[in-house]
Amino acid sequence: MIIKKNGLGGDDRALEIIIQGKKKLNGEIEISSSKNAILPIIAASILTDEKIIINKVPDIKDVAIITQIIKELGSQVEQKEKQLLFQNIALENYPPYELVRQMRASFLLMGPLLTRYGNVRLSLPGGCAIGNRPIDLHLKGFHAMGADISFRGGDVIARAKQLKGQHIYLDYPSVGATENIIMAAILAEGTTYIENAALEPEIVDLANFINKMGGIISGAGSNVIKIQGVKKLYAAEYTPIPDRIEAGTYMLAVAASGGQALIKNIIPEHLKAISAKLEESGAEIIEGNNHLIIKREANIKPIYIKTLPYPGFPTDMQAQFMAYLSYANGSSVISESVFENRFMHVQELLRMGADIKIEGKTAIIKGKKELTGAHVHATDLRAGAALIIAGLAANGKTIVSGNEHIRRGYENISQKLNALGANIQEL
Ligand code: UD1
Repeated sequence: MIIKKNGLGGDDRALEIIIQGKKKLNGEIEISSSKNAILPIIAASILTDEKIIINKVPDIKDVAIITQIIKELGSQVEQKEKQLLFQNIALENYPPYELVRQMRASFLLMGPLLTRYGNVRLSLPGGCAIGNRPIDLHLKGFHAMGADISFRGGDVIARAKQLKGQHIYLDYPSVGATENIIMAAILAEGTTYIENAALEPEIVDLANFINKMGGIISGAGSNVIKIQGVKKLYAAEYTPIPDRIEAGTYMLAVAASGGQALIKNIIPEHLKAISAKLEESGAEIIEGNNHLIIKREANIKPIYIKTLPYPGFPTDMQAQFMAYLSYANGSSVISESVFENRFMHVQELLRMGADIKIEGKTAIIKGKKELTGAHVHATDLRAGAALIIAGLAANGKTIVSGNEHIRRGYENISQKLNALGANIQEL
C-alpha cells in the first residue's frame, strides 16, 4: 500500500540502512516509474473532474505525500495494487501546510488549482538541503497569464478569473516552472508559448498525459512549447515513463562494485549523458530497445563532469557519480551548475576515507583503492543514494541513517540491490 495509516506512505522516524560492503552486484533489475514524471502527472489530474487512472505507480514517499494532499483537498482517491485512481470533482484550494512543507514539488499544484478554480493559496516552499530554490519563474508565468499574485503569512495567493494565453520566456529552463505553466495554460483562453522551456523527458511525459486527456500541446522536448487552451479535459489512463535517475543509480552501483547486470524497463535515450560518462570511466554498456547491460572489469578512470539541464548531465546523478569516482584511479572533477549547495554528501564520503576537496561549485575527487565503512547520514534523496553506492564497494559495514530521504524516491531499494547480491538491511 502506498498510503499508509499515518497517511504518509511510511514511518516517519529516522531510518537506517546497513550495508556489508565489497559484494559484486550481478543479475537483473527492473526500473520503476519515474518519480519526477508521476508527481506532475498526479498534479495534472486536478485539471479534470473525470476519472484519471495512473498505472505502475511506484511505492515511494513523495507519491504518497502528493496523493495525500490531493485527498485532503477532497479528491476521491482509490488504490488498486500499483494503480491509482483520482476523481477530482470539487476540490478545496488551500492545501495543508503540514503536508506541503514536506515536499517542494507540492508547488506543482499551483498551476492546475489556479487554472481550474481561479483562486489558490499555497505555502511558499522553503529552501531545502540542496540550496535556496526560488519559484520566481513559476510566478512570473502565472502573472504573465493574468494572475494576480500576493503573499500572506508565508503563503502565495494567486487569483485569476480566467487565465489568458501568452508568450512566456523563462530566464532559465526550470523543470518545475515549465510544468506548472503548461498545466496552467492548458485551461487558459488562447494559446501559450513557453520559450527557453526545459527539455527534460518528464516534461514530454506530462505533455503526453495532458494530450491523452484531450489537451493540445506540441513542442514538448524542444525549447519552445505551444499550449493551445481548451475548455475541458477528460478521463484518461496513463503509465509514466521509467525513472532515468533510478536506472542511473543502479548502473553506478553495479559499476562501483565491479559486477555485471541487466537493467530492464528503461529508455536508453534518456540515459545518454549517464551512459557516456560511465563508458568514459571504463565501464561497458550494451544497449537494447528497453534494457541495457552494464559491466565494469577495468579500473575506474577519472573523468570530468558538469551538471546541466537536460540533455546535459543530470544534477540528480552528481552525488552518485562522486561516490563512484572516489574509487577511481586518479583525480576527477565535478562541477555543479544547477543547484547552489549540492555537495552535502561530501562530508559523509570523507568519513568513509574519500579524498574530496571543494572549491566553490567544483569538487576535486582524488580516487582511492579503498573506502572504509562508517556511520554516515543521508541529508537528501540523492546524497543517500550516493552513500549506498559508496558503502556497497567499501570495506566493512556502512550504516546510512536518514533512510527516510531515500524512501522519498527509491522503491524497494534494499530488495532490488539484494536481488543483485548485495547485503543490505533496512531498519
Ligand atoms: C526538478 C526535479 C529535481 C531536479 C531538478 C533539476 C522534480 C520533482 N524535481 O526540480 O529532481 O534536480 O528539476 O533537474 O521534477 N530556479 C529559479 N527560479 C524558479 C525555479 C527554479 O531560480 O522559479 C532555479 C533553481 O533554484 C535551480 C534551477 O533553477 O537552481 C533548477 O531548478 P528547476 O529546474 O526548477 O528544478 P525543480 O523543478 O525544482
